[in-house]
Amino acid sequence: MATGDIHRKILQRFEALYRAGIRVWPRPQVVEPSRFPASEPSAGTVISPPSHQTGPMAQPLGQEALAGRAGSQVPIATEPMPMHRRACPTGQGNEPSREDLLRELAEQVAACQRCPALVPYRTQTVFGMGNPRAELAFIGEAPGADEDRLGKPFVGRAGQLLTDMITRGMGMRREEVYICNILRCRPPNNRTPTAEEAGNCRPWLDATLSVIQPRYICCLGATAAKYLLQTDQPIGRLRGKVWEYGAAKVVCTYHPAFLLRSPNMKKEAWEDLKLLLRTMGRPIPGRAS
Ligand code: URA
Repeated sequence: MATGDIHRKILQRFEALYRAGIRVWPRPQVVEPSRFPASEPSAGTVISPPSHQTGPMAQPLGQEALAGRAGSQVPIATEPMPMHRRACPTGQGNEPSREDLLRELAEQVAACQRCPALVPYRTQTVFGMGNPRAELAFIGEAPGADEDRLGKPFVGRAGQLLTDMITRGMGMRREEVYICNILRCRPPNNRTPTAEEAGNCRPWLDATLSVIQPRYICCLGATAAKYLLQTDQPIGRLRGKVWEYGAAKVVCTYHPAFLLRSPNMKKEAWEDLKLLLRTMGRPIPGRAS
């Protein structure tokens, strides 16, 4: 199928999704610092953007991050995508399933050529994985060697720890949740994604989350938190609070790869998971109710 046809088909699917009542299309947005309270919220506080703000939670990026090398804002992709930019259509049609939408998005992602430093280096793109109706989504940084080889997120050692966090820590099943990354391509030598790469990949992330509509998101590590919430605050300051991305509540914790290197920090991560469970209204495993 020609790229134009695929794009048109995806657009039609998103229009159908819109007709089906799914209308939260979080968009990356940079918000001026003055729109946010100057003081630090206390632990466990839900931090909402002002009511007029429709994009994801956006603590202001620091001026350095905003400035970029050429004095521009952090690059946000401007290419054709995302399909959900389209205005509300009229008419009825066959509603596509979320599985269909994700499959079609994954096909588009597989053809993505936006990042010149990543495309020649990848074995394949790594889309998300998990329950298309997940209440909870985990967002990591970028695929590593194992993920690049297998085409699935979090399948290496860090992935094993993430599975333990979900199953043994939270008492959930990995298949219940959705797992994806800020980037869909492995950066050379597992380096940290650049702001430009994160911006290029952002529409894929937004579109994926638009389909799944998770009520809760857990950012794994500083990179996920930085680019999802558009903040330059360190992970240590983002932990212990509940943030927002569109309609979803967001909790940040340490990346499992960091926890593998610093096992003494696992107890902090457990505190984060408990905050996440409390926010979700779920029982904390091992605690008498
Ligand atoms: N680390 C990540 O951030 N994502 C993966 O998918 C694997 C390791």
